[in-house]
Amino acid sequence: MPAFSDPSDADRAVQWPLPPGAGTEATAPGRRLRLGVMASGNGSNFEALVQASSSPLLPAQVVCLVVNNPGCGAKARAERLKIAVTCLDHRRFASRDNLDGALVDHFQAAAVDLVVMAGWMRIVTSRLISAYPERLVNIHPSLLPSFRGVDAVGQALAAGVSLSGCTAHLVSEEVDSGRILVQAAVPVLASDSHDALARRIQAQEHRILPLAVHLAAARLGLLHGQPQA
Ligand code: GRF
Repeated sequence: MPAFSDPSDADRAVQWPLPPGAGTEATAPGRRLRLGVMASGNGSNFEALVQASSSPLLPAQVVCLVVNNPGCGAKARAERLKIAVTCLDHRRFASRDNLDGALVDHFQAAAVDLVVMAGWMRIVTSRLISAYPERLVNIHPSLLPSFRGVDAVGQALAAGVSLSGCTAHLVSEEVDSGRILVQAAVPVLASDSHDALARRIQAQEHRILPLAVHLAAARLGLLHGQPQA
């Protein structure tokens, strides 16, 4: 066995690409990216974004969270962190399109620059994607294009791969298929349970998602106080 205890700790996970100058680019005085976040579950990626936003890593402000499950952990985190949270329960909408229309209305009213799907467990439609072209970021627990869709961690274990990881990418209409922004690779150990691997992958998600948001914004010229594209 390798002589290290956590093969996916910060120094060993492989991460590519790093946004040029990540953590060093400044915005014009007073200009911070306005982020809207969507989450369905525990919300650890949402909280990682909030934490990164208050550091030089990401000159941003998470202005609102939308959840679709009223009792989810993400909502409780937002309340603790004092971030405005709204529940748009998918069960109350007649179609995906209607739900996405409500999301667009919400994010437009909040004047967000970018929208981050941080564990949003619903398929999104062109209604949302076309309202935020190149501005909608998703995090997925595999090295795409491998293991798209549900239970990517279980798929990786079942396939017997020795390397998995996570991908932050732009959202396109085909599920888990948009342009890749940042990936981190995580070794799969012979002893790994689903939970153990998922936990190590998530630790990397928390690192790459803020970088991916930074990169998405830089591509659009939203940093340095430039006007919105
Ligand atoms: C993450 O593993 C993400 O990759 C997937 O959903 C999970 C959300 O976790 N899309 P959390 O709610 O951020 O803790």
